[in-house]
Amino acid sequence: MEMLIYKTPDYSAMSLKAADILSAQIILNPGSVLGMATGSTPEGLYRHLAERYRAGTLDFSGITTINLDEYIGLPPDHPQSYHYFMRTNLLDHVNVPAENTHVPDGLEPDEARECSRYEAVIQAAGGVDLQLLGMGLNGHIGFNEPGDCFPLDTHSVTLTDSTIQANKRFFEREADVPRRAYTMGIGTIMRARSILVVVSGEAKAQAVRDAFFGPVTPRVPASILQLHPNVTLVADSAALSAVDGIVHTF
Ligand code: GLP
Repeated sequence: MEMLIYKTPDYSAMSLKAADILSAQIILNPGSVLGMATGSTPEGLYRHLAERYRAGTLDFSGITTINLDEYIGLPPDHPQSYHYFMRTNLLDHVNVPAENTHVPDGLEPDEARECSRYEAVIQAAGGVDLQLLGMGLNGHIGFNEPGDCFPLDTHSVTLTDSTIQANKRFFEREADVPRRAYTMGIGTIMRARSILVVVSGEAKAQAVRDAFFGPVTPRVPASILQLHPNVTLVADSAALSAVDGIVHTF
C-alpha cells in the first residue's frame, strides 16, 4: 500500500494541511475535477480555500466540483441538504462556474434515473482527479454503509441507525433526518485518480485503525482504500491514537 499519512496536532492543523494539498492540486492542474465531501470534518479546510481565493492565491475558474452524496427528499435550499452545505461552506465564496458544480438531485424521485445521470456527469467531466473523503464513525465513505458487498456505482441507500444518530445533531428532531440518500459507489470513488481522506478526533480512532490497518472488508467500507494506488490520509493525533507506533507518519 502506498499511503502517505500526515499526522497533525489538532483539527486546525489538519484543516491547513488538507487545504495545502487541495491548493497544490488546483495550482498544478487548474482544470481539475474535484470530488467534494460534506460533514463537519472538511469545514475548516473549505474556509482556508475560500480565504486563499479572496487573497488571490487560488483561482477556481477552471475547476469542476462533483459531490459524493445527497439526502433523498431534501430540496437544495434546505439548510441540511448537501447542496446548501456546499454553497455556504465553499461555492458561494469562490469562483467555480455554477454550471461546473454537481451534487446528486435529492428531489429526483426516479432513483435509477438519478443514479445513472450522476455517473454520466462524472464520465462527461473526464473522471475525478482528486476525491476528498471524510469518514463516518462506522467507516462509511460517502453514504456507503457497512454491508455484505461493496456497492459499485452511484446508488440510493437506506442510512444505518448509527449514521442517523450521528447526523441528527444537525436536525431539529431525529425524525427529520432523511432515511435515504444518493451516494457515489465504492467503484465510483475508487476510479478517482487520487484520494485525500481527512479524519479528526478520538471518536474515529478505531475506525481509522479498522479502515487502514485491518482487513479489506465491506463491513468497513473505507478499508477498500487500501487497494487504491494514490491515497493521502491527513489526520490529527487523536484520530491516529489507535495506531500509534505501528505507522510511519509525516
Ligand atoms: C456523513 C457524510 C460523509 C461524511 C461523514 C462524516 O454521513 N455522508 O460523507 O464523511 O458523515 O461526517 P463528519 O465529518 O461530520 O464526522
